[in-house]
Amino acid sequence: MLKNKDILDEKDKRLRLISKDVTFPLSKDDLKTIDLMVEYLTNSQIEKLALKYNLRPGMGMAAIQLGIPKRFLTIVHEVDEGEFDTYVICNPKIVSTSVEKIYVEMGEGCLSVNREVEGIVPRYARVTVVGYDVNGNKIKIRAKEELAIAFQHEIDHLNGILFTDYIDPKNPYKDKDLYRPI
Ligand code: NI
Repeated sequence: MLKNKDILDEKDKRLRLISKDVTFPLSKDDLKTIDLMVEYLTNSQIEKLALKYNLRPGMGMAAIQLGIPKRFLTIVHEVDEGEFDTYVICNPKIVSTSVEKIYVEMGEGCLSVNREVEGIVPRYARVTVVGYDVNGNKIKIRAKEELAIAFQHEIDHLNGILFTDYIDPKNPYKDKDLYRPI
């Protein structure tokens, strides 16, 4: 089981690496890592388990957050109380985006950023992502709102980008009126 300390902190330079495409079949280690990522994200969003195992709640994780510079990520999206949709995607690419942009009003969060960061991170309200499932089959995911933000946030990790990079600490609410809060 993954622990908080297994997740790299924002100061760790490895988070700035550009992760490399994976090839199929995935290695046993990579498949195991994916299972651990999904397990962590799911448990972390179930309050009882989060408390029991001292997990920070999160809905997304990219492999590089565990120090693995490979292009795969997992998202566990709570669609209803205790009901989760799980996404695992390898070599993801955003192939289309909405014109409309949104931001998380409470501020975006990241399992690698252990502090509150205020400010606006503009994200597309809707994205279409293509990539491969764990077996190497092509997949296409259409995401909107919170889920769309999660995909953009996690794909940024694969490119060495953190959400804090978008925020100017001197003017964290810059251009606020151009985007819709969610
Ligand atoms: Ni993150």
